[in-house]
Amino acid sequence: MCGIVGYIGKQDATSILVDGLNRLEYRGYDSAGVALFKDNEIDVVKTVGKLADLEELVADEQPSGTIGIGHTRWATHGKPSTPNAHPHTSASGKFVVVHNGIIENYVELKEELQEKGYHFESETDTEVIPHLIEENYTGDLEETVRQVVAKLEGSYALAILSTEEPDKLIVVREDSPLIIGLGDDEYYIASDIPAILEYTDEVYILNDGEMGVITRETIDLSTVDGKPVEKEVFEVDWDPGMAEKAGYDHFMLKEIHEQPEALSQCLAGRLDTTDISLDDVNLTADELKQYDRIQVIACGTAYNSGLVGKYAIEKLARIPVEVYIGSEYRYRDPIIDDRTLVIVVSQSGETADTLAALREAQDKGAKVIAICNVVGSTIPREADEVLYLQAGPEIAVASTKAYITMLMAFYMLAIYFGRAKDLLADEDSRRLITALKALPKQTQQLIDENEDKIKALASEFANQENSFFIGRSIDNAVAIEGALKLKEISYIHAESYAAGELKHGTLALIEEGVPVVALATQESVLDKTLSNVKEVKARGGVVTGVTLAGEREIEDLDYRIEIPETEELLTSILAVVPLQLLAYYVAVERGCDVDQPRNLAKSVTVE
Ligand code: F6R
Repeated sequence: MCGIVGYIGKQDATSILVDGLNRLEYRGYDSAGVALFKDNEIDVVKTVGKLADLEELVADEQPSGTIGIGHTRWATHGKPSTPNAHPHTSASGKFVVVHNGIIENYVELKEELQEKGYHFESETDTEVIPHLIEENYTGDLEETVRQVVAKLEGSYALAILSTEEPDKLIVVREDSPLIIGLGDDEYYIASDIPAILEYTDEVYILNDGEMGVITRETIDLSTVDGKPVEKEVFEVDWDPGMAEKAGYDHFMLKEIHEQPEALSQCLAGRLDTTDISLDDVNLTADELKQYDRIQVIACGTAYNSGLVGKYAIEKLARIPVEVYIGSEYRYRDPIIDDRTLVIVVSQSGETADTLAALREAQDKGAKVIAICNVVGSTIPREADEVLYLQAGPEIAVASTKAYITMLMAFYMLAIYFGRAKDLLADEDSRRLITALKALPKQTQQLIDENEDKIKALASEFANQENSFFIGRSIDNAVAIEGALKLKEISYIHAESYAAGELKHGTLALIEEGVPVVALATQESVLDKTLSNVKEVKARGGVVTGVTLAGEREIEDLDYRIEIPETEELLTSILAVVPLQLLAYYVAVERGCDVDQPRNLAKSVTVE
């Protein structure tokens, strides 16, 4: 999840670009760069590191010009490094591109270009774009860009400059955000509104498959296949605090809403129709067959994702999975041999307990795969292999989009392992992969259809001091995460229980008015879960059910939230979303500091 900016107008673009990048730094921060057009040349200044490093370089090199583009990077393909930083340039230096998104078919495109003699400076997927523009240039940049984007698969927001057509900036969007700010004979480009809000409050928001051809005086909007587009100007009325959060009241709510994009980014480049390709994880089928046990180690929400991972891997790959809390692992003298594969999970990549467990496992000879979000952090640097979540920076202390992409990572690993062990037939794999691909849009639909209802439901919980979350099988794992979310940000005591276990003790705590969230998305145990709901209702509990859409009438539920239909194994990704929204709106109603709950920190670097 990178950020892009651009400017065309009468002012010097340098400070506008750097300023915009500063405001987008939350979208990525391992490298950054700008390109400015002046005297028929494009000057590119870029560097690995934080934006402060770019600012220093810009101060030294003093690029200038009244047209420019800029980029802040969150590494996906290729490590953080200066050659991998954007902008990327064609061999002749005539075409310069910044890109947010992932080009899924870049390997094929790169090979074709290499056969034609193109040399690549970086390991990125993006670099194919300037080379493709150069290779296909017809003398008409707009026409060429249309031809080039037709060859691209994946997601992209692009801004393109060329010395061939110096007074022009071209932008295109497919599955990555892009807006155009309107000034007085000047235009601003950005991934998000906050980057340009200081300069204008009037913007065009591009939709997928749309492009803009911009000069100082004109802007032409069209679809990539050439149909003109008429657009209303969006008037932004955010104050600066809201702008930082892209108009949301809190980072947590913003990150909940970013989950469809985070899921798409997590999947990008990793799925074909029947197989998962995890180029970043070097684990062959033969090697996988050697492992007869997997240990998952993590803390908090990351640990909770491992509980779902256990179901998925055991079901599809038939390898027993043990899930350990990071802070406990080292002190239990863990049993590890060369047939044990260890997976550590961490959003930040810096959690001290998880890191210590990783080192312990490696000392005992285990191979360790890290599932991680922050590129270049300590855990992925020390692990043997890394599967990056590609969720983009997560700012709120309560993890949401990192959790949901951790679930996605486990599902991909489970399918990958199942295929490697010849346990998952083509047909079953295809079905699961089709369902995985549908999840980003289904998550969006779920948020759109349920947010207001959940907001209203929050008052049912806001005055309570105790609550319960129940479910069976995967629903039980999601219930644990739902309870953690509610307690950490609303300070309401929330206990999660395997639904069938309630009657062995906890049912004693259910009395008139106690709120209970019952997850009931697992068709195979639905009747059993519903009989547990009856036990709760009989003691006066107020039950909110999370069920599949289209499921039969369930009379014992006081409130019902329906998630879109998906494969039984994959419901966790959808089922957790209403629980995140519920925790958020309850915390807001109780006046809690949602983004920074008391006593907690985003990255726990002490044991
Ligand atoms: C809860 C939460 C924490 C983290 C835990 C591990 O919402 O975010 O429980 O999951 O501190 O952090 P990471 O994933 O960075 O290792």
